[in-house]
Formats: sequence, C-alpha cells, structure tokens
Amino acid sequence: MNEARMRLEEQLRQKTLEKGQMAERLVRSAYDAMRRAYAPYSHFTVGAALLGRNGKIYLGCNVENAAYSPTCCAERNAFFHAVADGCRKFEAIAVVGGPDGNVTDFCPPCGVCRQVMSEFCGPEFMVILAKNSSERKVFLLKELLPESFKLN
Ligand code: THU
Repeated sequence: MNEARMRLEEQLRQKTLEKGQMAERLVRSAYDAMRRAYAPYSHFTVGAALLGRNGKIYLGCNVENAAYSPTCCAERNAFFHAVADGCRKFEAIAVVGGPDGNVTDFCPPCGVCRQVMSEFCGPEFMVILAKNSSERKVFLLKELLPESFKLN
C-alpha cells in the first residue's frame, strides 16, 4: 500500500472513531435530558440530544400537561430549543426513554417528531437509539420517514 493510501485509511479510521465518540456523548447527554423530563401523567420519561452543524448539543425532554394534548415530546423540544438558538442544520439526534426513568427498551421517535425532523434535516440525518450502556440502534431519517410530506 502506498503512503497516500495509508494516510487516507488512517484518516478514515480516525473519523469513524470520532463519530463513535460523538454518538456516545450524545447518548450520555440524552440520559441527562431524560432526568429533567416532566411526565407526571404517563410516567414515561424521554430525553433527546441533538447535534447541530454548529457543533452544539441541544437537549430536550418531554413536558406533559394536565390537558394532555399540549404535551411536547423530547425530540421536538430539542429541535425547538436549537431553532430558537439560531441553529437550523443538524447532524444527528440521540433518544432514550422508558417508564419512570428506566431505559429497558429502545424509544423510537413518534411520527410527529419524525415529521419535524424532516422539516430541518436531510435523508442522511442520523437517529441514534440506546437501550442500555451498550446496545444501540442507528437509523437514517430516510429509513424512519420515507416519502415524508413536503409542500412543493
Ligand atoms: N414521547 C416523547 O417524548 N417522544 C416520543 O417520540 C414519543 C413519546 C413522550 C410523550 C409523552 O410525554 C410520553 O412520552 C408518553 O407518550
């Protein structure tokens, strides 16, 4: 293998490593956000950590309401938080959730949150789900919401 090729492969390995480290950082941040969830009605707590193209991580948790329908999901809260900060371009989101703060299964985003993702993100946007300290599932937005609604 020539010198240039070896350098390129090393750079690719480094990138993969960095991506993995960032994914773990997002998962940890999603757990932190989940601890702030306000879910006195369902007792199902959710946390999301959204990575902006500006390098910032935006957190969101679910916030419920006595009238039920004003409830907002963790993922949407993370997006709205980012947009209010001036960020509209995103790389990835990590989501964790479970009953009373116990993450015992993957917590895929609801359909409404997927639609909000499609407003701001392209088909390659990454959705990282965590079940415990080691199990992960990674989806692209195009897999979670094919044929999304667009106003054209
Ligand atoms: N929830 C989220 O935060 N994200 C989702 O994608 C699905 C559901 C919240 C809403 C509600 O507070 C609780 O989980 C139970 O539905």
